[in-house]
Amino acid sequence: MTKKIIIANWKMNPQTADEALRFVQGILAQRLPKNIELIIAPPFVYLDLLKKNCGKKIKLAAQNISWAERGAYTGEISGLMLKNLGCDYVIIGHSERRHIMGETEEIINLKLKAALKVGLTVILAIGEKEQNDDILKILSQQIKSALEGVNVSEISHLIIAYEPVWAIGTGLADTSDNALSAALLIRKIISRLYGQEWASDLPILYGGSVSENNAADFIAQNGINGALVGGASLELQSFIKIIKAAEKNE
Ligand code: PGA
Repeated sequence: MTKKIIIANWKMNPQTADEALRFVQGILAQRLPKNIELIIAPPFVYLDLLKKNCGKKIKLAAQNISWAERGAYTGEISGLMLKNLGCDYVIIGHSERRHIMGETEEIINLKLKAALKVGLTVILAIGEKEQNDDILKILSQQIKSALEGVNVSEISHLIIAYEPVWAIGTGLADTSDNALSAALLIRKIISRLYGQEWASDLPILYGGSVSENNAADFIAQNGINGALVGGASLELQSFIKIIKAAEKNE
């Protein structure tokens, strides 16, 4: 598996559709590496606009999904709505949703199953809160609870993003060696749950203060399949440099 995945998580930015469109046009004006999967996760309100302007080179991810299928759930967005809009991915379990919005492991599991049911690929974000936490225990727990009731045939629609919470938005990225160890651990956990074959095919990304300066270190690791980028994905020139860092691994 040589294809590297680069995901831009825009969070609650930018504030206007014009800015969102200009950003995507700026990326499309570049010669993009062939061997990467480029995914943008904008706020819901820009998904349709970006879908109409991204062509085939950029795929779209939602940043959230309802666990409910349809009906009286004010303010919620269903998986089918996302799918019908041309969205292929959804981020679930991001630490900001776990820790700021109070999403429990049970909710994450329900959302993950709702996404898989409509054919979305899930980008499951996991990671420890503190630098000295027991990551084996925490990652095992997060993976097991998120994938409760998910069968082996659905695992091909899963990407795991290892995002240590202490590294998100702090400018304090993990080392690429630590990130690689965490990725190996995640593969081991998946292997125990679903078998070796699925584990070796599973894309595992690193996220947490990825920047133009460190992206290549993470992406170059064989056991890491790409990066989930927050802050640096909002600055066009930085993000282009991150994309080009993936090109060097072609
Ligand atoms: P960051 O965010 O790159 O700004 O640390 C990463 C994320 O939240 O996915």
